[in-house]
Amino acid sequence: MAAFLQFSLTPNPLASPTKSLQPPSNRLSVNPVSAFKQEPIWRRVTSFQHCVPRAVLSTPEPKTQNIQHCFTKSEDGFLLCEGVKVEEVMKVAEQSPFYLYSKPQITRNVEAYKEALEKLNSNIGYAIKANNNLKILEHLRKLGCGAVLVSGNELKLALHAGFDPTRCVFNGNGKILEDLVLAAKAGVFVNIDSEFDLENIVAAARIAGKKVHPYVATGNKNSKFGIRNEKLQWFLDAVKAHRKELKLVGVHCHLGSTITKVRKLVISRNLNLIIEPGRSIIANTCCFVNHVIGVKTNGTKNFIVIDGSMAELIRPSLYGAHQHIELVSPPPPDAETSTFDVVGPVCESADFLGKDRELPTPTKGAGLVVHDAGAYCMSMASTYNLKMRPPEYWIDDDGSVSKIRHAETFDNHLRFFEGL
Ligand SMILES: Cc1ncc(COP(=O)(O)O)c(C=O)c1O
Repeated sequence: MAAFLQFSLTPNPLASPTKSLQPPSNRLSVNPVSAFKQEPIWRRVTSFQHCVPRAVLSTPEPKTQNIQHCFTKSEDGFLLCEGVKVEEVMKVAEQSPFYLYSKPQITRNVEAYKEALEKLNSNIGYAIKANNNLKILEHLRKLGCGAVLVSGNELKLALHAGFDPTRCVFNGNGKILEDLVLAAKAGVFVNIDSEFDLENIVAAARIAGKKVHPYVATGNKNSKFGIRNEKLQWFLDAVKAHRKELKLVGVHCHLGSTITKVRKLVISRNLNLIIEPGRSIIANTCCFVNHVIGVKTNGTKNFIVIDGSMAELIRPSLYGAHQHIELVSPPPPDAETSTFDVVGPVCESADFLGKDRELPTPTKGAGLVVHDAGAYCMSMASTYNLKMRPPEYWIDDDGSVSKIRHAETFDNHLRFFEGL
């Protein structure tokens, strides 16, 4: 996560949560079973658990002592999302695999940030790259979040989702002129990442006929992001030399989580703090739901082959991310527990979702989920092997299940060639 310290004060328009309306046609009928005793899944080791939002600011003590998590286990061994059996959702989902989110968990994560930021001039700038589902963005906007963008299309989507441009920040080390013009016209804040970026931002301001409000972006040695402290004065002077096009409003600290006394700093200098959380808002709100195609053994290795793959969820293959995997229903009593690699059907040996996982041997067709799948999973999905991007669903506060993104289809793919 990165943080901004903005030196011009802006009001804090954090709005109260608004219930989003779902068209009834998107709703699926599933019975909630919240009466079961539930054990929170978040207790288990997963790759995102270090990202509890509350850790952002050390003081004051959080008021909420009981952290509630959407994924729990019923006493009889079924995986539940907000009290709804994931197995039941699998029966009504139009296809497999799919992503399943908890809308209340998204709300809870944002509320935890708001609590941590209480009494500070601040803006929760949700990093759209983590997950760009339009319904999720609209929900986050209604909860009072701003948005952090890294491309022109993310900017267009943020505006489409209704984000206030003055609560949006355009980041990136390779922003193209066309996107910067769009940003200047929309009036979003822009980061200055390098000398050439500064040139492009000034050019964009001239083309758009609007003054740009930039941050000077600091970065670590050898990082492709931002500028080093030694060069800061040069950039401050360069910005001053372009008074007509630019009005400097702050500093952007890439990986600002190294600043530990944020609250004190912000209050003592009367600053406006913009934080840029992505995964801590959305990762733990979702699981990727699959069917088991079969189980096989080659040499000494056991494999569970599922219908989901690196095409839909690439983090394990791409950078060895560990995401907790489990079955959605209790296995048959005689199921032997073994060590498995959980792999997809894609023709690529890097196609795995988990390695060396202790799991009960699943039956053909059993449900299997990959947890912490809300961030950098669907937003990084591809159509490799023509596995089209999967549908997404969420469970609402009342336990109802709605589709929040259609599955891509083969016809969608053929459309790229129409008329050629
Ligand atoms: C500048 C910047 N802002 C925000 C983010 C979002 O980070 P995270 O999803 O880890 O919260 C990143 C992560 O790469 C980043 O580089």
